[in-house]
Amino acid sequence: TGFTAVFLMVLTVFTSCTSGRVRVRGIFLTKGGQQQHYMNLGADDLNYQLECRIEGSTSHIVNVTWTLDNWGVVYTWVAATRSVTVNLPLKEHVKVPWEGVEVGPDIHFISPDVSMRGLYKCSVYHTSTDVMVNPVWDEYDLQMYAFFQGEYNISASVEKCTMYWSFSTPRMYPRPEVHCGFWNRTGHLVKELRGGLVFHQDVNYVWYVYARNTPVQVADIPRGTSFHCSTQVSIANYTKHTHLDEESIAQLLHDRVNDEGCPALPTLRNHMDVILVGCRYNCRGECHQYSSKPVIAEYRCDPGYWSYWETKNIVVRRWSLRVTCYDSRRIWVSEDGTKPLDLPYCIYSGSAVVLPCSVQLLVVVAILSWQLT
Ligand SMILES: *[C@@H]1O[C@H](CO)[C@@H](O)[C@H](O)[C@H]1NC(C)=O
Ligand SMILES: *[C@@H]1O[C@H](CO)[C@@H](O)[C@H](O)[C@H]1NC(C)=O
Ligand SMILES: *[C@@H]1O[C@H](CO)[C@@H](O)[C@H](O)[C@H]1NC(C)=O
Ligand SMILES: *[C@@H]1O[C@H](CO)[C@@H](O)[C@H](O)[C@H]1NC(C)=O
Repeated sequence: TGFTAVFLMVLTVFTSCTSGRVRVRGIFLTKGGQQQHYMNLGADDLNYQLECRIEGSTSHIVNVTWTLDNWGVVYTWVAATRSVTVNLPLKEHVKVPWEGVEVGPDIHFISPDVSMRGLYKCSVYHTSTDVMVNPVWDEYDLQMYAFFQGEYNISASVEKCTMYWSFSTPRMYPRPEVHCGFWNRTGHLVKELRGGLVFHQDVNYVWYVYARNTPVQVADIPRGTSFHCSTQVSIANYTKHTHLDEESIAQLLHDRVNDEGCPALPTLRNHMDVILVGCRYNCRGECHQYSSKPVIAEYRCDPGYWSYWETKNIVVRRWSLRVTCYDSRRIWVSEDGTKPLDLPYCIYSGSAVVLPCSVQLLVVVAILSWQLT
């Protein structure tokens, strides 16, 4: 053993002579000896270490000084005294020498919180003459995330043609990205609901996201979609999809959103009106058959207006067009079948002054023919 000791001593002298250079090889976040990408503050074991890996002869080190963002110096280790000084916000959250137990230049976290995240710089002051730079240093962006105890909560109710939705996340850090809305079958968010979503951060920087009883009109919801929220924390590769857990509401919503009837009938001409009989409207203003009788819609010119066909130069005093809703096919069919509609204009019966000459003439002819028949 005597020989070995001498040998080791020689070796030590040899290495310190050849590698007087001091260098910071990097800063590493570790836990239980394993390298980590970030701190998970929700974990039970929070004994993370921030290691400043120093290469070269430690005998040349004067002190190791850590700074953090705007906080300035947060941790210093002085080689000569092996003493440690800790400042806010690390104070009382990291290990310090205690009852003869030493703590080195690395930061040993005991109870980290999100105020301690940010850009750490480890500066090593040295006496090495081989290195021009003093201190040598490196930087590390310490990121954290945390998912605290708590549940995701999603609910919805439907009243008439309005859906009211609520959502809440557990507390977490950092600020999650939350997308609530209507997603299609291939997982695309087709309509996002942004209104009503509140991002709340408490004094401990921890986030909580919620929405309460936020209304959305069923008519504004795309068909073929379903409602849910996603919560993402990208640094942790974390994504959580929260679906409605109440089956009956999900079904009711699905039925309301996807319900389809005969489309709302447009007003086809000025002063032309459409009268519907036996129609039950859905949330989109579409029409369903109300009883056993099919829905009939009748187009007419308003009272005091006559019908005029420009192409045929005909005026008719009383005209109407009936269309029927085929509920099962969700289409309207006119009584004369599939022929393209030849719609008249509605002209004011007493508007001889306003109408162009040819039309005036026609009106007169029409009145005559009406009186003759
Ligand atoms: C570390 O050492 C440098 C160089 O000797 C000195 O200027 C600095 O004040 C020291 N820092 C602390 C906190 O002891
Ligand atoms: C849903 O969230 C509310 C508070 O937002 C809470 O009182 C309730 O217990 C939660 N429900 C579930 C099932 O977690
Ligand atoms: C879902 O939406 C995306 C983007 O709008 C579209 O490309 C995709 O075809 C849709 N899928 C279905 C099943 O509708
Ligand atoms: C997140 O996922 C990407 C791609 O899968 C991966 O390269 C990256 O290392 C992951 N990050 C973390 C922090 O796990």
